Amino acid sequence: MTVAIEYAVSEFIRAFPAVNCADGLWIARAPGRVNLIGEHTDYSEGFVLPAAIDRDIVIVFHPRSDLDVRLYSGDYDERSEFGLDDIVRDDANPWSNYFRGAAKALCDSDICRSLGLMSFAGLDAVIIGDIPRESGLSSSAALEVASAFALLTSSGALPHQLGHECTELRKEIALACQRAENVFVGVGCGIMDQMASVMGRRSHAVFLDCRSLEHQLIPVMLDENDVALVVYDTGVRRELVGSGYNLRRAELEEGTNLIANALNRPDIATLRDVTPDDFEAVRKLLSPTVARRCEHVIKENDRVLKAVNALCAGNMVEFGELMYESHVSLQSFYEVSCPELDRAVAAAQNVRGVIGARMTGAGFGGCTVNLVERQSVELLIAELTQSCGFKSSCSETETQYAQAFVVKPANGASIEKISPHMVQAVRDRQ
Ligand code: GLA
Repeated sequence: MTVAIEYAVSEFIRAFPAVNCADGLWIARAPGRVNLIGEHTDYSEGFVLPAAIDRDIVIVFHPRSDLDVRLYSGDYDERSEFGLDDIVRDDANPWSNYFRGAAKALCDSDICRSLGLMSFAGLDAVIIGDIPRESGLSSSAALEVASAFALLTSSGALPHQLGHECTELRKEIALACQRAENVFVGVGCGIMDQMASVMGRRSHAVFLDCRSLEHQLIPVMLDENDVALVVYDTGVRRELVGSGYNLRRAELEEGTNLIANALNRPDIATLRDVTPDDFEAVRKLLSPTVARRCEHVIKENDRVLKAVNALCAGNMVEFGELMYESHVSLQSFYEVSCPELDRAVAAAQNVRGVIGARMTGAGFGGCTVNLVERQSVELLIAELTQSCGFKSSCSETETQYAQAFVVKPANGASIEKISPHMVQAVRDRQ
């Protein structure tokens, strides 16, 4: 998949017919992600193993010489405008708050200076994408990251300054985008999604230590091992703002404080510092709910480390077992699954050739990820769509359709110049 350049350009010309594109256009892409294992561990400085996927948010844009930002969302067919000198929320167009938040976080950071840029400059931009929204595949992080890449480029950054090897800068961009979501959008998300979107690499997963932010690219030999990753989108939608997400964070904080006090260990800053043995020694002091939440996180961290070893050893069977264990823990201990996700994992488990399956992302709806032998992909997709249905209950106003599709680990965010010649060719065809 991924959005074709010609389509992106034609959308720009349609949305901004008066903009002079004689010097060409730019296109920023940022991928969504699938998390293979390590769920709800990032905000307590644990371990995660996501992979960027071949589904993106794409921003096609033309830089401006003033501070104005004019956005058009292809998905919503809506516009939103603001000035970089006065960035406030636009609650009539909430989709634009991810761009606004990223812009605000960048303006408040040192990134511009570290790139040698004099000041920010605005842009005219069209946002499109092929990541299902609010499905747990991180379309929000992808939008924030693509916004940051677009804004830095419109302000004069050159593509090589933002290249894949610029890992320190990319890390700073990920952190700014996380701040955008925490402060501007109001979700206390961790750093996993933004890091996956900037650090992803084709055929690799990103093993991330959410404390040090060190990351390691782990080859996922899908082709060599003749296996595939299938995402099943239940169609059940949840908004993280106002969902149980922030509540889970608060429960973990409570648990961490209680554990640190009970063990008289002021060095315990997050659950990352608590071993399974430490936890067993004090679990009785916690309320049953808080104990279940902490148990999930402590054991999930351990599963990530085992999963990375299994992957490095090419032991897909063990990896798959860990995926199932992770799902059960998210279902019973962390309680962020839902009947549709559970049904999809159970259905997958019964298909011959499926190696592992679990919910992926924040939960409360969204997607499962399935590791499956290549010859069983069609069988799995048929089983999921038959036994789990196409149409899912969700909000009263919107009906989403369930869908299953193959994804491939893909490269992180990128920026590309579109030549005047190509813009003209698209214009001629319109
Ligand atoms: C969302 C958040 C991430 C992470 C996951 C759960 O995707 O944005 O930071 O917490 O949920 O693992």
